[in-house]
Amino acid sequence: MIKLFFSICVILISIPLPSEGQQNVHVRREVYDLMAHQPEVLDAYARAVRVMQQRAPSDPTSWKYQANMHGRFPADAVPNGTSEEKLLWAQCQHGSYFFLAWHRMFIYYFERIVRAAASPLPNGVDFALPYWDYSDEHRRQLPLRFRMPADSSQNPLYVAERDPDMNNDAELDAEVVSNVAAFRVRGFSVAPSNPPLLCFGGEIAGPIHYRRPHGALESRPHDVIHGALGGENGWMGDPDTAGRDPIFWLHHANIDRLWEAWLRQGNNRHDPEDSKWLDTKFSFFDENKHQVTKTARDVLNIQSQLAYRYDEPTQPSGVAAPEPSAPEPSAKPVIAAKSIGGAIALKDEGNRVDLSVVSEQKLGVNPVAAPGAPQPEFVVHIGGLSVNKRPSSGVFGVYLNLPTDASPSEAQKYLAGIFSTFGFEAKHEHSVPGAPGDSPDQGGHLIPVTEAVKRLQAAGAWDGKHVTITVRPITGVKKADKKLTAGDCKIGEITLLVR
Ligand code: C2O
Repeated sequence: MIKLFFSICVILISIPLPSEGQQNVHVRREVYDLMAHQPEVLDAYARAVRVMQQRAPSDPTSWKYQANMHGRFPADAVPNGTSEEKLLWAQCQHGSYFFLAWHRMFIYYFERIVRAAASPLPNGVDFALPYWDYSDEHRRQLPLRFRMPADSSQNPLYVAERDPDMNNDAELDAEVVSNVAAFRVRGFSVAPSNPPLLCFGGEIAGPIHYRRPHGALESRPHDVIHGALGGENGWMGDPDTAGRDPIFWLHHANIDRLWEAWLRQGNNRHDPEDSKWLDTKFSFFDENKHQVTKTARDVLNIQSQLAYRYDEPTQPSGVAAPEPSAPEPSAKPVIAAKSIGGAIALKDEGNRVDLSVVSEQKLGVNPVAAPGAPQPEFVVHIGGLSVNKRPSSGVFGVYLNLPTDASPSEAQKYLAGIFSTFGFEAKHEHSVPGAPGDSPDQGGHLIPVTEAVKRLQAAGAWDGKHVTITVRPITGVKKADKKLTAGDCKIGEITLLVR
């Protein structure tokens, strides 16, 4: 069915559609579909990657330069007499409401550079950046074209610097690819004065690069995909190296598509409307090496403003995301329980943290509210996350009230969420000294756990008086025998918020 749909699309797209006027709209397609039906697009990508790799690293359209614009590769020093800022290196926006818009602009110009580098394209082939829909249960292996042949001198889409299982044929775990929490989000952003809430990144005074809590779509699937593909040492696991992996760009095309799909769910979902979000300028290079500037206002409508679209943007894919029936609670969240005693160094076998209950009343209320009534929303905030060495699998699991003697299969029932260390490397902690809101204590993840609380309550494992949270490395890929280590990571504080 998908295949039939795809072939019809290919036929339709090759005929210019009158409604699209003069402008040629490039269609971004799913990588598995392309491998099956239009491998020429991936050949073009591979060819362009090779061309870009051969360009001088000082050329803004070179492979290395483009990756450095996201985060500077550790071995690449800034030449004397210039700065990261002037070079437009290390500009990626994480942990704020600029995350989606900045990455949209970044991959848009990259796509133009690739198209130019791949030209002349064979007749009938147009290049648009492919996306990878890993949430689809049949598309959870790293696309074959990116791992076979497993030799970067023959295959420009292959890099050895990945999780070895992913570069083999392991599948991403269902938890890793889940976009359920992201699709449930209703409000794009929150004001900085508000306690952290689930959104797509908080408002911020200006571009900041790192260090605030990651928004829902950014945290999962975005960060955890980075973590699982990067594994212990691979490029995808660190923003400074991620752009060197050709799969990075397909991952971001998918995140960009999910932004579209999220908007199309409607029910009052919309982009931010404040002028800081709309009018903050970001700079890039186009295919002619000219420096260009864009604002979020310039990229709101991908088809009319940027001349691309997705083949199938309208459906959130993968795990179904049922809309909560009750309206979103409007109350501010309060801390119901929190860790005490300062920073927590994460251990291979996991850390079980007894939270000190601040408001028994908040925890004690029946979280399974009557139908139609607003339901309390529970969120775990992992604050002050800091990473000197990544966990071996790139991801940690967060468990609520996990019994100490639970077997691995029992433990699954207590798993409330998952987070990655991507973007929380300690070396970034002072990357924007004194920037507004640049507090290492605030950086971290907000993990929605309402479903888990309900599940535990139904199973009699939630008494509303005691809460423990266990954080331990878990495997992000379906390979049972992985040895799990926690690396060298710490958490400043864990809080359980309720509203
Ligand atoms: Cu700026 Cu997927 O990272």
